[in-house]
Amino acid sequence: MSNKTILVAFGGASPEHEVSVLTAMQSIAALRERNHTIIPLYIGKTGRWYTGKNLTNLEEYKDLKTLIASSAPCTFAHNENGRVVLMETSSKGLFSKPKSFHFDVVLPAFHGSDGENGAFQGVCETFNIPYTGSGVLGSSVGMDKLTAKSLCRSARFPVVDDVGFYESEWVENKASIIENIANLGYPVFVKPVSLGSSIGVTRASDENTLINAVESAFRYDRHVLVEKGVSPLKEINCSVMGTVENATASVLEHPMGSEELLSFKDKYQRGEGAKGMASADRIIPAELPSDKTEEIRTLAVQIFKKLNCSGLARLDFLLNAETNEVFFNEINTIPGSFSFYLWDHSDISFPELLERLIAIALEQHQQKNGRVRSYETNLLSQKAAIGLKGLKGTKGPR
Ligand SMILES: Nc1ncnc2c1ncn2[C@@H]1O[C@H](COP(=O)(O)OP(=O)(O)O)[C@@H](O)[C@H]1O
Ligand SMILES: [Mg+2]
Repeated sequence: MSNKTILVAFGGASPEHEVSVLTAMQSIAALRERNHTIIPLYIGKTGRWYTGKNLTNLEEYKDLKTLIASSAPCTFAHNENGRVVLMETSSKGLFSKPKSFHFDVVLPAFHGSDGENGAFQGVCETFNIPYTGSGVLGSSVGMDKLTAKSLCRSARFPVVDDVGFYESEWVENKASIIENIANLGYPVFVKPVSLGSSIGVTRASDENTLINAVESAFRYDRHVLVEKGVSPLKEINCSVMGTVENATASVLEHPMGSEELLSFKDKYQRGEGAKGMASADRIIPAELPSDKTEEIRTLAVQIFKKLNCSGLARLDFLLNAETNEVFFNEINTIPGSFSFYLWDHSDISFPELLERLIAIALEQHQQKNGRVRSYETNLLSQKAAIGLKGLKGTKGPR
């Protein structure tokens, strides 16, 4: 791929902010190996946007205040030629003018919240900027565990039974919700509908622990789901790359935790640190009979397509180690470290992986712009001539 200018966007008002910084720094290093130019777009925990060269250095994040003070606030804007740029809204130096930066493509490296749920992707769409990964719909469906599961259920893909409810419903109908949950059978897993990294996820083995778990999940989300527990559990993850037309599955991974539930600590804070998802304990490829492996890889590709995903995702499955039943658990449309450690096994290096995502983004953007996007009518001039009902002072016909 010819040298490109890539805007790497990361951070954000998300509990997974720090993990996103790690994924972004890994990606920047990989893209630089291929001589691409990097423009960082760091979204702080308050939601403000910053750019500046210090933002590409992991060491600088030890002192966030100084880092932000040395960076320039910025935003997307159209410059005088109508081209979209990342524009500083004030400059750092006393005598320098605010700068603006051209780029070819955006690489969203967020985890969780607005960076991964389609909101940031929507900003890119509005500016007609190419970006890697899933679009608005795939991203938002992927972030909502209940919606993703219900689409899978309607396509007859296997998912675990659940009960989903809003906080207001819990307050009004607690007894009947608890009864429905008891019908699933304990133990159950309580989760905020749209969070990741095991934040707010609790195993509950009886009604008392359930009530505490639900109340703690509502601290993170107004929508909660409670799922039947799979036991004995073997977790299996699979990354999928491509488009709804053509997608491939990676080898399978068997992540291993220290407890009954893979915690944030298991995922990111074991091993050597500063490696994000790449440092967790896992077996790759997962040790499974080959027909089971193929069943899961096929399912992963089918679900990726069904949920309207694009670029790359990691799909997580729950396997009952006794019965060998497989259930789709969740999809991560921007997985930690872009799951590069799974593609390594298919001889696709991290720089190569990112270049493929960029190529998909550019191709889809070109295709989108090749379709009819506006429809010429003289509706407004007609309405202006005859007047429009509802507008003050006009009383013409419809
Ligand atoms: N139905 C379930 N049965 C058994 N364990 C579960 C179940 N759901 C979740 N877990 C455990 O909890 C962890 C976190 O849940 P998950 O749905 O993956 O949330 P997150 O998006 O936060 O990763 C899983 O990795 C798994 O260890
Ligand atoms: Mg998970």
